Amino acid sequence: MTFARITGTGSYLPAKVLTNKDLESLVDTSDEWIFIRSGIRERHIAAADEQASDLALHASRKAIEAAGLQPSDIGLIVLATTTPDMIFPSTACLLQSKLGIHGCPAFDVQAVCTGFVYALSTADMYVKAGHCKHALVVGTEVFSRILDWKDRGTCVLFGDGAGAVVLSQSDRPGVLAAKLHADGAHTGILSVPGTVCGGKVEGSPFVTMDGSAVFKLAVRVLGEVAEEVLPAAGLDKSQVDWLIPHQANIRIIEAAAKKLGLGMDKVVATVDRHGNTSAASIPLALDVAVRDGRIRTGHHVLLEGVGGGFTWGAVALRW
Ligand code: ACO
Repeated sequence: MTFARITGTGSYLPAKVLTNKDLESLVDTSDEWIFIRSGIRERHIAAADEQASDLALHASRKAIEAAGLQPSDIGLIVLATTTPDMIFPSTACLLQSKLGIHGCPAFDVQAVCTGFVYALSTADMYVKAGHCKHALVVGTEVFSRILDWKDRGTCVLFGDGAGAVVLSQSDRPGVLAAKLHADGAHTGILSVPGTVCGGKVEGSPFVTMDGSAVFKLAVRVLGEVAEEVLPAAGLDKSQVDWLIPHQANIRIIEAAAKKLGLGMDKVVATVDRHGNTSAASIPLALDVAVRDGRIRTGHHVLLEGVGGGFTWGAVALRW
């Protein structure tokens, strides 16, 4: 039987750092308000000439190198983003070109902050079915471009970044189970409602959010999807070595851990360093914990995503 296993991880944060203190001069806020409500200290902002595909390129090169591979070994690219370089072609195709490879299938997945979980689950099926030996799975965002920097309710929460993994065919299990969900009935609580039409943007091009409704729904669905994916993976809660939830807000992360009965010593939280980077947040946190040696061979890792759509999902891994 063929399995799919993560063989390399990588991440990238743009050079420019915007601290909570810096935001105090942009909107009526404070470091204390932001940190207490969200756990965020700072976020990174892409340079004017950096696109989502550029961030993805840095993270992908690191993941491919960590897997001991060359870009030419990649047989599939699945890229999650809410902030693509262009309307088309897909950011996956632009990344493929920047990696200097040709011919393999490459496509984007749009599930906002759940995008990486959707992309990983999709690539898992391709790899397990034998369509390719090595898939590159990426989450990349330049969320700073869709924020209203006059709206203190949203602009303090998000940042830019990218994370990537290589998912390879293996004779031992890596991805144990995945569960994905969506409910479009909740579109109104989190969206960028604008669209491009006839050469103009129609509607708001900025993130609009009912923070309290998002908070409550996120905590509920993260709890439910964890209860669903763990038995499908043949695991119980006590066997989870590391929980890596979407890095939106430390209070949502703490609530997700509490629902699983896990202490914060079992949770990878990097939200303080980069804020909510949407589809990039889970692979960013994963890469940090792999590279600092917390995640080791044989560990069980639970990835949990939640975001606009509303979408949510989880992937259980054996490392
Ligand atoms: N600085 C200072 N004050 C602020 C700021 C700010 N940046 N933003 C809002 N306020 C004010 C509000 O205007 C309000 O003032 P008022 O009482 O005079 O009206 C006050 O602070 C309290 O606002 P609340 O909305 O009640 O604050 P709350 O404790 O609910 O925290 C927050 C708001 C942080 C947005 C919270 O609801 C939350 O974390 N929601 C989840 C949102 C999230 O994580 N979204 C990410 C995208 S979704 C995803 O990735 C799953």
